[in-house]
Amino acid sequence: MTSTEYLSDNPAATEAFAAQWAHTLQPDTMILLKGDLGAGKTTFIRGLAHALGIPEPIRSPTFTLVHEYTIQQPPHLSGLPFFHLDLYRIETPDQLYTLGIEEILERGGIVAIEWAERLELCGMGLFTTQVYEVAIELIDETKRQIRITRVDNQTQRNT
Ligand SMILES: Nc1ncnc2c1ncn2[C@@H]1O[C@H](COP(=O)(O)OP(=O)(O)O)[C@@H](O)[C@H]1O
Ligand SMILES: [Mg+2]
Repeated sequence: MTSTEYLSDNPAATEAFAAQWAHTLQPDTMILLKGDLGAGKTTFIRGLAHALGIPEPIRSPTFTLVHEYTIQQPPHLSGLPFFHLDLYRIETPDQLYTLGIEEILERGGIVAIEWAERLELCGMGLFTTQVYEVAIELIDETKRQIRITRVDNQTQRNT
């Protein structure tokens, strides 16, 4: 299991780190973001979206639960959907299905999920080809420890 760590000391650095990492992304990818409120999950996703050429402002889909955008770059991802989900309010598997999570994962794009802990809570075994966990830890007011880990999705499926 390989992981990448980065200590960010301001929001722009978090965005830049996310944007740089975005260059390694492939189609059919799920990004599980974990961390407390205010850790910087939305900020990280803003950096990703920017690198993917998405011009719309990125805000947390706390009430709508899902935002969909179209990836503009790089060429191998262009035209695929970028989904931004926030599962903070999700408590049951039924709510996840109502949200259309299965359809979202079948679209072959990039799916970034805030409060991904809720997937486990709901016993979800829904995985795409590539799965990454992005864990952000609040160190102090401006410092954030970011750890990106590639998740072995076979292992996840069997648990
Ligand atoms: N190094 C940093 N990285 C990301 N956000 C930071 C950092 N330092 C301070 N912040 C602030 O922390 C907050 C993070 O908010 P947000 O990205 O919405 O978090 P979350 O989506 O995890 O609740 C913002 O107000 C941002 O300005
Ligand atoms: Mg957020």
